This record gives sequence, structure tokens and C-alpha cells, in this order.
Amino acid sequence: MAHKIGVIGGDGIGPEVIAEGLKVISATGVEFDTVFYDLGGERYLRDGTVLDDNTIKEWRDLDALYLGAIGTPAVPPGIIERGMLLKMRFELDLYINLRPFIALGHDFVVIRENTEGAYAGEGGLLRKGTPHEIATQGSVNTRYGVERTIRYAFDLAMNRKKHVTLVHKTNVLTFSGDLWERTFDEVAVDYPQVGTDYNHVDAACIYFVNDPGRYDVIVTDNLFGDILTDLGGAVSGGIGLAPTANLHPHKVSMFEPVHGSAPDIVGTSQANPIAAILSGAMMLEHLGESGTAKRIRNACANPAELTGSTAEIGDSVVARLI
Ligand code: NAD
Ligand code: IPM
Ligand code: MN
Repeated sequence: MAHKIGVIGGDGIGPEVIAEGLKVISATGVEFDTVFYDLGGERYLRDGTVLDDNTIKEWRDLDALYLGAIGTPAVPPGIIERGMLLKMRFELDLYINLRPFIALGHDFVVIRENTEGAYAGEGGLLRKGTPHEIATQGSVNTRYGVERTIRYAFDLAMNRKKHVTLVHKTNVLTFSGDLWERTFDEVAVDYPQVGTDYNHVDAACIYFVNDPGRYDVIVTDNLFGDILTDLGGAVSGGIGLAPTANLHPHKVSMFEPVHGSAPDIVGTSQANPIAAILSGAMMLEHLGESGTAKRIRNACANPAELTGSTAEIGDSVVARLI
């Protein structure tokens, strides 16, 4: 049976890199059908649509979703990011944001909680526009949400080098940090074979640059995970190489690069499509096509040798497929 894949090119370089991802997936010979969704900033500016409930309903019946990137300077920040991307992650309960870093000899993975934390949108503005205005922006951390994320990280570590590092800021965020740390310690008891460590997020930034070899699986909250994974991309060959899986195990899941719509390079053919291509490989892995996923990953090995325009890099990956 052909896999049914919903494709959202999105904004900026999103459609440019997704075209290369689809090119590579097609070249593998794997059977798939695509349903294209015209969503993102341009669609919003045209008719006000961000993401309606019927579309989400359709997505639940697909096998996977493949996204380029969304967001454009022409739309105020947050409208598309919260209204589309975060709505997608939250409504489909894609609670795991999995970001592997494998380029340039690196081999670690960040498991980022993907439905809570500062992203939950708790807060508001009071007396807006007056000298007495107040803005609050809370962080939601549930035992349920934290525990399922930490368990996922330990399960993953069991199939890797059996090591999990919790990254947080327990020395300052004493409420959420306490919940994360206790949950981590309690889950760890169920995995006696897995070694554990803890880093404050600021120190983790040092080790990402100086000593990333210390990491196997990192588990962290939504906002720390967002920031750390851009750094992860930067230290392991560049943001244009880093893929993401947004997972709800056994349900429709979504695959996208770590990077955004890069309005500064849109239309210049400078966008590296490897992150999108590797996100496609993660999607195929999730769909049970492990052999094909591996062929794509192998074709993307030594990415520094893959140079040229966006389309030329896509062609080179196709040429390297065996
Ligand atoms: P960005 O990731 O789009 O760009 C940051 C820098 O990385 C830029 O200099 C850009 O040129 C470079 N870059 C990104 N992808 C690249 C690639 N494939 N090849 C080469 N260089 C690449 O981050 P930003 O500029 O902060 O955000 C731009 C927009 O994208 C914003 O609207 C933001 O909200 C959105 N965004 C969307 C997603 C997503 O859809 N998943 C992710 C991040 C940011
Ligand atoms: C990412 C992006 C998103 C995030 C934005 C665009 C909402 O930066 O996928 O890393 O913060 O999660
Ligand atoms: Mn990000």
C-alpha cells in the first residue's frame, strides 16, 4: 500500500527544500501518494486561513505529514507559528520532538517535550499600552507530559549508548525544575542499565560547543529544547543539515527540518535541502521503510562534499542513492 503523505511546503525556503525531499523519496522507488496543503503566511495574507479544524481532521487519516517551514516577515510574529505549527503539534498531540545530530562525527539526539512548557501560551497582557502594563508568560509542566517524554528518552537510550542527560535550569526554575528532576530520577529507577547525568542549560551550551561527545540522549523542556537544537545544528555542520520528527508513537506524526523559512536567503538557491531530505528519511523510518531510510541517510553522509544550489544538492543525493 502506498503511504499517504500530507505535504505542507509553507513559506520562504520551505517549498524549495521540500521539493528536494520529495525528489529524493521518489527516486528511492518507495510508493507514496501526496496531498498538498497550501498553508502558511502567503495563504493567510490571501484569505485569512491559518489552519482550520477540518484540515486537522483530514490529517488524522494520513500516514504522515511532511513540512518545509512556516513564518514570514509579512505577517506579525506568532500568528502562523502559534496558529499553525504549534496548533498542529498540540492538536495531534505530537509530544516528542526528536532531533538527531549526526553530521561531522557527532552522534547525539535531543528529545524535546513538544506540547507544554512556555509554549502552552499561558499568560496575558494587562493594561496594555499604558505605563502600568503587565505581561506574564507562564510555563505549564504536567507530570503526565514530562513523564511520557522522559520515558521516551530512556526507551530510546536503551537502543543506543544507554545514557540520558537531563537538561534544565533547576537552580533557578525551582518549581518546574523540581518536577522534571524528580520525574527523571523516578523513571531512571526503571532503567538500571542506563547511565544518567544532569546539566544546567547554560552549561549545556558550553558542552555542545566544547565536548558534545559526552552526550547520547538529551531530554529537556520545550523552550530549552528549541534553543539547544539550533545550537546543535550549528555545531554539527550547520542548521541546514538538522532534521526533526514530531512524534506521537503509533499515530500520524510530522517531519520537518529544525530550521525555519530563512527569509534572508529565499529565492537564492542557497538553502541546503539536506535537513528536509533527512526529515524525509525519518518519516520513512517511522512508516516502517527502514531500508529506504538508511539508503537516504547513507546518501547524505559527508554532507560537506554536497555543494551547489538547492536543486544540485538534491540531484547529488539522488545520484548517491544505491
Ligand atoms: P531560520 O532558521 O529561518 O534562519 C536562521 C538562519 O539560518 C538564517 O541566516 C538562514 O539563512 C539560515 N538557514 C536556515 N535554514 C537554512 C538552510 N536550509 N540552508 C542554509 N541556511 C539556512 O530562523 P529565523 O530567521 O529566526 O526565522 C525565520 C522564520 O521562520 C520566522 O518566521 C520563524 O518563526 C520561522 N521558523 C519556522 C520554523 C518551522 O516552520 N519549523 C522553524 C524555525 C523558525
Ligand atoms: C522550531 C521552531 C518553532 C518552535 C517555531 C517556529 C514555533 O523554532 O521548530 O524549532 O519554536 O518550536
Ligand atoms: Mn526552533
